[in-house]
Amino acid sequence: MQDPTPVFTDVLSHLDAGVMTLTINRLGKKNSITGAMYSALADALDSANHDPAVHAVVIQGHETIFSAGNDIGDFLNQPPATADAPVFRFLRGISSFPKPIIASVCGPAVGIGTTLLLHCDLVYAGDNAAFSMPFVNLGLCPEAASSFLAVQLMGYPRAAEALLLGEPFSAESALEMGLINRIVPPGEANALAQRQALKLAGKPMTSLMETKRLMKKGNAGMVAERMAEEGVSFGRMLQEPAAREAFSAFMEKRRPDFSAL
Ligand code: COA
Repeated sequence: MQDPTPVFTDVLSHLDAGVMTLTINRLGKKNSITGAMYSALADALDSANHDPAVHAVVIQGHETIFSAGNDIGDFLNQPPATADAPVFRFLRGISSFPKPIIASVCGPAVGIGTTLLLHCDLVYAGDNAAFSMPFVNLGLCPEAASSFLAVQLMGYPRAAEALLLGEPFSAESALEMGLINRIVPPGEANALAQRQALKLAGKPMTSLMETKRLMKKGNAGMVAERMAEEGVSFGRMLQEPAAREAFSAFMEKRRPDFSAL
């Protein structure tokens, strides 16, 4: 394979043998995702959608960390205010992407690092993967239609544990719930995702896309509707005292104090 071509320094994009690989590459900040990175990811998905040379997409991080979720400094300083914000553009793009998407997840997958997986077709995880959706702990609410898709996937009790308590869950739990397909040693996850993507890239594109469309059809309207509703609440809650306290506490490396709220 050739060296990855940077679309943007924190997101690498590489096309080889019909597979577009997007690598979240901001290790110094635990692969947390900024507005510019969401834009790069949304643009890459848009071009993958329209490029007939792309048959499948792989999204991967590093073998120690998939993503620490949204950049919390961005949440404080430039919160996504409208439906056109890069994060919402990325979420609409991934949730309606018509070709197969495979994710390779190792280490922590926080917030959108977990919820984006609900829109992937195949997910391979390192045995060090730790999934979490700590929106409540940050004074927020779910995004990416996770308030719908997590309940559908896990059942209400386990979704409530994941979304109300916001505690991490392991690769074994994720496998048992059906969030991921397989657990492998962290050093093997990206290679497995590539092998599976190459298999898909060798199949008839029209059949892949029609099959995906049919499988997703029952959820598509509800996903779009819930994502829009979550987005309105999320955008409002980003500006409210609980979230401001949670973000300030993270930046100041202290525990949040919600006692006065
Ligand atoms: N946004 C911005 N910066 C982040 C970040 C985020 N979501 N997550 C981590 N970082 C930064 C830290 O501030 C730190 O920066 P510094 O070296 O300049 O101080 C650096 O990345 C390393 O993070 P650290 O917390 O020391 O790493 P860790 O290995 O101890 O823990 C995590 C890794 C992912 C468990 C932890 O960083 C974490 O919980 N991050 C926040 C996750 C979160 O709440 N995301 C929002 C979801 S909606």
